[in-house]
Amino acid sequence: MINKLYFPCSDEKPKQHAFEAIRKEQEYIGYYALPDQDTAAILQYCEKIPNDIENIVVIGIGGSSLGAKAVYEFIRPVKTLPRKLYFFESTDPVNLTALLADIILDKTHFLVISKSGTTIETFAIYKYIYSLHSNPDAYTFITDPGSPLEKYAQTIHAQILHLPENVGGRFSVLSPVGLLPLALCGIDIDSLLQGASNIKESFFNAGYMQETLLNKAVYYAKHHAQYHINCLFAYSESLKYFCEWYVQLWGESLGKHQRHSAFHVGLTPIGLIGPKDQHSFLQLIMEGTRDKSVTFIKIEDFNDSTVIPDISLPHLESLDALNGLPFETLINMQCDSVMEALLNEKDIPIDIISIPNTSEYNIGALIFYYELLTSLVGELIDVNTYDQPGVEAGKIILKEKLSAQKG
Ligand code: PA5
Repeated sequence: MINKLYFPCSDEKPKQHAFEAIRKEQEYIGYYALPDQDTAAILQYCEKIPNDIENIVVIGIGGSSLGAKAVYEFIRPVKTLPRKLYFFESTDPVNLTALLADIILDKTHFLVISKSGTTIETFAIYKYIYSLHSNPDAYTFITDPGSPLEKYAQTIHAQILHLPENVGGRFSVLSPVGLLPLALCGIDIDSLLQGASNIKESFFNAGYMQETLLNKAVYYAKHHAQYHINCLFAYSESLKYFCEWYVQLWGESLGKHQRHSAFHVGLTPIGLIGPKDQHSFLQLIMEGTRDKSVTFIKIEDFNDSTVIPDISLPHLESLDALNGLPFETLINMQCDSVMEALLNEKDIPIDIISIPNTSEYNIGALIFYYELLTSLVGELIDVNTYDQPGVEAGKIILKEKLSAQKG
């Protein structure tokens, strides 16, 4: 994975400060250790799930579902997988009914995932599904040790797996929260971790990623008052859910009160997919307020030889230049052209991440790159990256409303 930044950063002091802070955080923030874990226990657990299980369903929301969904939707188009993975995340009844219509309950294993073990959406959906299919063997519960969910699961004698210590929801994709559903569907979780481990190694041991990530984080933090919107412009449909994961990670981690002042700060994530969003959001970036940075993501080799046929259409001869062109060349030329156009503006901070191909290794690398970048920026804009008091407040009010309507 290569990341080329088209903006300068020469401030050594904040880089040193951020690196030191993140190096120390490894002692008490759990996600940094995840790339180096042994996956034997998870792979053994997968063996326990009967072969006639065709579908895996994740019942969870936010950090309990978005990471696995990002990886699954990235790999699914290019790999034949032995099982389908579904995500039951929403209390939208039409969505719930439609998803249920797609699966046969007896051929499905359900993973109920909630770190806190009390999330309203997760339990509303679980209650409904359990009322239809009450065999405890069909469920595995993933939660924090001692949570109400763990206690409940014990009462029905169901299987329970734990999140490792100090791993927050949105940083948990490389823990059993993401690894178990992915492994059950035939995704190579060792390669996923290897990709993450490579970025970790490069960052902490003065490799290429150290300077790159520090330069980017310091630039974002230094200019956060002006460039407070960070667009991720990914040129592949398969990165759509990676963009959703990024929006959660960035938004929930970086929108806060500062730790040492009364100011509200935050960087606003936007996920865009090329070329589709060239025909919508791009206008706003190109000519709108200069408050946005853009990171392009490009896949160098789609491993797909589909070519635009050599057909000349009457009155459309000007488009004959497309003839014989592989689609993968076209999409990357589109990315390069938009990037060049934005660079010509001179006042829009741009960088590009190129990944060699669509593989578990490369999505693992992207995930860990973004987790490290989030931690660095959080430190530099002086917020607690790992809490989410703003999300909690709404949950508390909902619980009060639910109790009130019960009378
Ligand atoms: O990142 C977070 O902490 C949140 O987005 C949570 O993942 C989300 O609220 C779901 O919480 P839980 O896993 O406790 O059900």
